[in-house]
Amino acid sequence: MQINDVVSIETLSHIALICLNNPPVNAASQALRYGLQQAISIANTNDAIRVIAIYGAGRTFVAGADIKEFDGPPLEPMLPELVNEIEESETPVVVILHGTALGGGLEIALGGHVRVGLKGLKVGLPEINLGLLPGAGGTQRTPRLIGIPAALDMILSGRHVPANEALELGLIDRLSDEIPRDAAIGAAKDILSGVLMPRRTGEILVKADHSYLDKMKATLLRTHAHLVSPHKCVEAVRASSLKLSEGLKLEKRAFAESMSTPQRAGLIHAFFGERAARNIPEAKISPLDLAHIGVVGAGTMGIGIATTCLLSGLEVTLVEASQEPLEIGIATIHKNLEGAVKRGKLSREKFNSSLKCLTGNTDLASLNQVDMVIEAVFEDMDVKKDIFFKLDKICKTGAVLASNTSYLDINELADITSRPQDVIGLHFFSPAHVMRLIEVIVCEKTNETVSATGFALAKRLRKVGVKSGVCDGFIGNRILSHYRKTAAYLVLDGSSPQEVDQALEAFGFAMGPHKVTDLAGLDIDWLTRRRKAPTRSKEERYSGDVADRLCENGWFGRKAGKGYYLYETADMTPNPKVNEIIEAERNRAGLSPKTFSVGEIIDRYMTAMISEATRVLEDKIAARPLDIDMVLLFGYGFPRHRGGPMHYADTIGATKLIEHIEKYAQEDSYYWRVPNLLRDMAKDGKTFADLNR
Ligand code: 3HC
Repeated sequence: MQINDVVSIETLSHIALICLNNPPVNAASQALRYGLQQAISIANTNDAIRVIAIYGAGRTFVAGADIKEFDGPPLEPMLPELVNEIEESETPVVVILHGTALGGGLEIALGGHVRVGLKGLKVGLPEINLGLLPGAGGTQRTPRLIGIPAALDMILSGRHVPANEALELGLIDRLSDEIPRDAAIGAAKDILSGVLMPRRTGEILVKADHSYLDKMKATLLRTHAHLVSPHKCVEAVRASSLKLSEGLKLEKRAFAESMSTPQRAGLIHAFFGERAARNIPEAKISPLDLAHIGVVGAGTMGIGIATTCLLSGLEVTLVEASQEPLEIGIATIHKNLEGAVKRGKLSREKFNSSLKCLTGNTDLASLNQVDMVIEAVFEDMDVKKDIFFKLDKICKTGAVLASNTSYLDINELADITSRPQDVIGLHFFSPAHVMRLIEVIVCEKTNETVSATGFALAKRLRKVGVKSGVCDGFIGNRILSHYRKTAAYLVLDGSSPQEVDQALEAFGFAMGPHKVTDLAGLDIDWLTRRRKAPTRSKEERYSGDVADRLCENGWFGRKAGKGYYLYETADMTPNPKVNEIIEAERNRAGLSPKTFSVGEIIDRYMTAMISEATRVLEDKIAARPLDIDMVLLFGYGFPRHRGGPMHYADTIGATKLIEHIEKYAQEDSYYWRVPNLLRDMAKDGKTFADLNR
C-alpha cells in the first residue's frame, strides 16, 4: 500500500515492510516523515504484525534531514518526535541501512530496536559540517550504544564510519550482503525466531565521563573557539548520562540555537553551492573521453596535476625539457602516491597500477596520442606560446589543449594554434593533488564540448570546477590581487603585519595575508608587480613599498627562512627588521600612523574583496555570486562558516557596503570605487543570493 509519494508499506504474514523512496538520497523530508509515521502507526494497529522492518529504495538509506527545509517554517511531524515514536513502538522495529545513513537517517535507525548494515554502508553524524549538531536524538542515543568518547568522535569529526567499524563499535547489530528488501525480511524473521534480540537504545544507561568531556571542551576552546556548534555538541553529549527525556530536551535547545546562527547559514550555503557549481549548461553536454593526459612541466604544479590525474586512474605522460628535473618530478609523484597509501587514500594495488600509468619524456612529440595536454610551465607568455605552437603540430586531432596559467590571456594562447576551439584553461591550485578547486576557463572560441570536458575532468578528479571567463587572474587571482593591496595599505597607514594577520585569523582565515605571502613566497608577487608596472595607473597608490624592500633583501618568506616572520626556529616569530622597513616607508611617504581596530581591519579587507568580486560579476567573468564563493572557499582558504564573500556580503547588505566604500574613498578615491552593480542592488533592494536564482 502506498502511503504517499515516498513511503509504502506491505505485509508479509507477520512482517510489515516499510519502504522509503525519496530520491536521490532519501532525505527525511516532511513527506517522508509523515509517510513513515503513518506506516508505523498502521503496522502497530494491525494485530497480525509482530515485526516492522524499515528499508530504503535507491542508492542509499536516509542521508539526513532534508536540508532544503531548514530555511522554512517547521513542518510536522518533526524528526525527533518521529524517532521517539519509532523507539516507543510496541512492535519491534528493525532498520536496514545501505549506502549512506547520515544525520537524521542514522538517528531514525537509532530509534529502531535492531539495525542491520549492508555491504558498503557508511554511517555518520555530519551535522557539524552544517553548523549543527545531531538534533533527532543522535547526541543521546549514540553514546548509549558506543560510549561517550566514540560518540563524540563521530559527532565532532562528522566522519563517515565504514560498515565494519560500525559493527565493531556496536552501532549496528549485523552486517549483510543482501539487497535491502531481502535483508529486511531476513532480519524480521530472525527477530521472530529470537535470533536477533530487539532492545530500546534509550533505555541503555550512559556512565558520566566529565573529565573526558572537560578535556574535549578545553581542546575545542583552543582549536575551534570561533565556531558555535562543536561546543554545543560536547554539552549535548554530556547530557546523555541524564534521563533520555532530559538529554533530548537539552539537545533540542542546542539544535535550535545552532539553527539560528549565521554560521549554520554559511555552511549550508557552502554545501549547496558546491553542488550548484556543477549545475551548469555544460554539465548536460557529453564530454570527450579522457584516458591519457599529457602534463608539460615537472614543477610543483605539473607534479601535483600529474598526481591527481593518476589518483583518478588516468594515464599520464609527464614532459620536462631535460632529464634531471624530469626524474626529480617523477620521484616526487612516487612520494605523493606513497603518501596517499599511508593516509589510506590509495590501496597498494592501486598504487602499483598508478605507477604503471605514469611515463616521463623530454620530448613534446611523445604527446602525439594523448587526449588532453595540460601545460604547467612557468608564467611566461612567450614560453607558453612556443609550447602551444608546437603542441598544435604534435597533438592528434580533437585533443584538448589546456593551460594551467594563473593569470595570462588564454585567448592569445589559443590564437597561436590552428585549433582555438580546442583550447581551454584549467587553473589548478597548489598543491594540485590536495586543493579541490579548478577554475575552468572558457575562452572566446572554446567549443562547448571542450568546456564540458574540462568540467567532466574536474568531476573525475573529485574537484570543484568553477567556470571563469578570461581576464588577468581569472576569478580568484583577480579578486586576490585587489584585496591583498588593502593589507599593504593598512600596514603603511598604521597596523603591523601581525595585527592584520590576527584580525583576519579572528575572522576565520586559517592564516593572515602576511603569513600566506610568506608561505607562497614574496618573489611571486614581486614578479607580478613588475609585470604590471608598465600598465599601472598613475592614480593607483603603490602597494609594494614594504614588500619590495623585503624582496630586495632576499627575504622571500618561509623558503628563505625570513619574510614578514622569521622561520629560523620551530616557532614563527615576527621579523623585527620589517618594522624598521615599515617605519622608513611611512617616513618617506610622510604618513603618520593611525590605529585600526580588529573590526576596522576586517571591514576594509572584506569590503575590498566584495567590491572586486562584484566587478568580476559585472564583467561576466563569473556567472553567479555562488561561483565566486566556491572559488574563494575551495582555493583561497575563505572561512567556510562565512559561506564565501558574496554570501557574507549579504549579511552586511548593499547599502551598508556602499557607505563603507564611500567613507574609505575619502582617503583613496581610485582604489575605493562603488561598483555599479552594487548601486543597482541597493536601489532595487536585491541581495547576491537573488542573483544566484
Ligand atoms: N537534504 C536535501 N538534499 C540533499 C541532502 C539532504 N540531506 N543530501 C544531499 N542532497 C541533495 C544534493 O543537494 C544533490 O542535489 P542536486 O542533485 O540537486 O545538486 C543530491 O541530493 C545528490 O547529492 P550529492 O550530489 O551530494 O550526491 P553524492 O552521491 O555525491 O553524495 C551524500 C551523497 C554523501 C549523501 C551527500 O549528498 C551528503 O553528504 N549529503 C548531506 C548529508 C548530511 O549532511 N546529512 C545531515 C543533514 S542534517 C540532519 O540530518 C539534522 C538531523 O540531525 C536533525
